[in-house]
Amino acid sequence: MALIQIPLNDVFRSFNDGGLVLFGAGSEGKFDFMPCGWCTPWGLDRVLFTAGPNHYTRGLAEASDRFLLATPTAGMAETVFKLGTTTMHEDPEKLSHAGLEFLSGERELPFPAGCSAWVIFRRVKEGLPQFPNALLFGVAEEAWVDGDLWHEGRPLPEEELPLEKRRLRYEAGGAWYASKGRERVLQGAQGGRTG
Ligand SMILES: Cc1cc2nc3c(=O)[nH]c(=O)nc-3n(C[C@H](O)[C@H](O)[C@H](O)COP(=O)(O)O)c2cc1C
Repeated sequence: MALIQIPLNDVFRSFNDGGLVLFGAGSEGKFDFMPCGWCTPWGLDRVLFTAGPNHYTRGLAEASDRFLLATPTAGMAETVFKLGTTTMHEDPEKLSHAGLEFLSGERELPFPAGCSAWVIFRRVKEGLPQFPNALLFGVAEEAWVDGDLWHEGRPLPEEELPLEKRRLRYEAGGAWYASKGRERVLQGAQGGRTG
């Protein structure tokens, strides 16, 4: 797997379908990751999502004003489930106990292995409503994707990927899915800046 750095104006391509992301943050040598089920792009290079104020990961993001969002794949379902049902408040070894592995290489925040995209965001506090207090807003500073899952400047269609490499989706109540892929309904239609 080769990492490819992508233009910040293309970050939305990895988040446009919304939904589940892995949220990571670090401060003073500690870092943590948790799944967040409600993430949405908010422009070409920015996202909005919720992470409750009592979560350990959120505290690290507040201390550093930076965070990582990664898009987990279906093959990571068990690990993502464990990351979302254990807390570093109680288990300092939460990440290894969940089976989370990291890509090699020195980085400010380690990139969880098995994801399809990894984006570093600067946290922006200005202009956000005070309620709900779980809201987090970020502007992308650096974006990378798995080169095997990206072709000619956009993500490969999910239906062309093996099940375990498709985006991991979560509805509620233990209902985990792999993205089904996209049936084109307007063949050849052009739209917006995405061409
Ligand atoms: C599938 C899934 C989605 C979740 N989505 C969110 C979310 O959007 N916002 C949130 O605050 N917590 C969410 N959680 C809960 C946190 O991930 C969970 O409380 C986690 O253990 C926090 O870990 P930490 O305290 O180590 O940061 C979700 C959990 C799961 C399993």
